[in-house]
Parts: sequence; C-alpha cells; structure tokens
Amino acid sequence: MERIGILTGGGDCPGLNAVIRAVVRCACAENWQIIGFRHGWKGLIEDDFIVLDNQSVSGILPKGGTILGTSRTNPYKDQGSVEKVKSTFNKHSLGALIAVGGEDTLGAAAKLSAEGLKVVGIPKTIDNDLNATDYTFGYDTALNIATECIDRLHTTAESHNRVMVVEIMGRHAGWIALEAGIAGGADMILIPEVPVDMSWVCEMITKRHKRGRTFSIVAIAEGAKLSDKDVIADQKLDQFGHVRLGGVGQNVAEIIEKRTGFETRVTVLGHIQRGGTPTAFDRVLGTRFGVKAIELIKAGKFGFMASLQGRNIDAVPLSAGVGELKLVPPAYYELAKKFFG
Ligand code: F6P
Repeated sequence: MERIGILTGGGDCPGLNAVIRAVVRCACAENWQIIGFRHGWKGLIEDDFIVLDNQSVSGILPKGGTILGTSRTNPYKDQGSVEKVKSTFNKHSLGALIAVGGEDTLGAAAKLSAEGLKVVGIPKTIDNDLNATDYTFGYDTALNIATECIDRLHTTAESHNRVMVVEIMGRHAGWIALEAGIAGGADMILIPEVPVDMSWVCEMITKRHKRGRTFSIVAIAEGAKLSDKDVIADQKLDQFGHVRLGGVGQNVAEIIEKRTGFETRVTVLGHIQRGGTPTAFDRVLGTRFGVKAIELIKAGKFGFMASLQGRNIDAVPLSAGVGELKLVPPAYYELAKKFFG
C-alpha cells in the first residue's frame, strides 16, 4: 500500500477532524501517503485535493467542521461523474479511499464499491439515523447543544409564562429531539416517526397549565409530521433529492397559540447544532473509527464501514449501513410520553 485517499461528505458534523487526524496519524505510521479530497465527492470529480501529513492535522482534534470541506455532491447524479471519480482514483494510484459520511455519501461509496472501487466507510451524522452502528459521531455534540438550549429556554419561558417551541434537526429520524427533550425535560416532543394530532398536543398543554404550571416547552424535530396540518417546507431539493426543511416549529407555535390562548414563541436551533467543538465522546468515537478504517485497509476488507457495537468498534458491510434509516422505535417514544404534559 502506497497511497490512500480520504473525503468528508454530506452535512459537516463535530468529530470529522478527529477522524481525519486519526487516519493521517495511522497512515503515516505505516509510511503511507495520504491525500485529502476537498468537498466530498466533488473533490474526486474535480481532482481537487491536498496532501495530508502529521503536520497538517496538528491541532485539529478539538475543532468542529472539517479541514477538507464538504458538500452534498452526488457522483451518481450527473452523467460522467462516476467515471471521473474512478479516473481520479486511478490517476493517484490509490490503494483505497476512505469515505466519511452519512446515508448519502456512504450510499455512493457502497455503489462504487460494488463497481470494484476499493472503498471503506466511516459513519457520520448528527442525526444518528445510520443503520448498523449504535451511534454515529456528531450526534452526542448536537444532543448536548440541543439539551443546553432547552435548559436556557426553560428560564425565559418560566419568566414570561410562555409556551416555547424549539425546532431541532432531524428530517427523517427524531433522535436529537427525542433525547434532548427527555434530557431537558420537555413537556411535549414531536418526531417524524410518530405523527400526532395537534388537538392532543393542545389538550396536553392546556391540562398542564390548568394544573398550575405557567409555561411549557415543546421540542419538535424539523421533519415532524402533523396529522391535521401540513409541514411548511420550501421545496428546494439537494442533490440526493432531500427537501430542505424549516417551518414546522412556526407552524406548530401558531396552532398552539391560537387554540390554547397561551402566548407562544418559536426558536429554530438550525446549524448551531452542527457547529463548534466536539464533545469528548465524539472525539473518541471519531478517533476509534479512523483507526478502524486503517485496520480495514490493512486487512484488505474493502466495502466495509467502521461501526460501534456496544462498546466495541466492529466492521459491517457498507450495504448494511445504507438503504434503510435507523428510526426511533415506537416503544422509546412511549417512554418519553410518560413525561409529557
Ligand atoms: O446532516 C444532517 C442535517 O444536519 C439534518 O439534520 C438537516 O436536515 C440537514 O443536515 C440540513 O442540511 P443543510 O446543512 O444542507 O442545510
């Protein structure tokens, strides 16, 4: 093995730099050269890269984002892009490519692997919705940020006797909203997996206030589905065909204020959840995933991705990680419901 490549694709998340650092440190220890492709698959399509060494990854461990940049470029969208990816791979005589990403980036990696490219994957997303791994790095940081925001909203909600609706990331899976809601003591949690009726939501809030509570916190995932009102979404799509969400919190806040008569405000956490320094958990998980990716390459185990199974780092086929999302199980939502109202 002489030279390997790495890319980070999809939405950025805290811990990506921990992965890059671990990969580079381990690759250098093997005397391998390492090339970092810039902005995800775009870097391979356009042959845009930087050479990485121990010096270039010094000091990046606690930094959020990714020193390589990222994008949602899908090599299977535009004709000729897959061929460009393969030709860049061959031009640099890569022994392997490490793709760090979520469902979309690793989905493309799985297809390229099936077409014979030597690829290994590392699962990343703040949404924690990737299958075949207990956790993705980035999630813990986002969860802690969202929880802190709910704590902060509590004090202002209480002072003003308001209902506070907090919109949290998660377009298909409500992991961050659910667990931040549990950790922050939200009085109602709404997630994409469990569509609810707004009359039930308003009834729960009204009952709570009748019991003497003067404020409420509603945590809602951006992809939450309401059974009696449509989600407001702008219809722009990204290259993987996902709708850019935004607006469900406002929608819900308006309904609550109108139907309950309680003054209601909405806070959209947005990209605050993805920015800034990673938690220790995400730094450690990213580091362990990076080390595992190098082990997989050394073992010639291409077409696999690193995965957290309990406390162990394992390897699973890329195809097992993509295709189906890991959603919040109904029983977990039932547990959260015990604390509503
Ligand atoms: O990367 C996942 C995610 O943060 C989702 O939770 C969110 O819906 C989406 O990315 C936002 O994407 P963008 O950064 O492209 O607006």
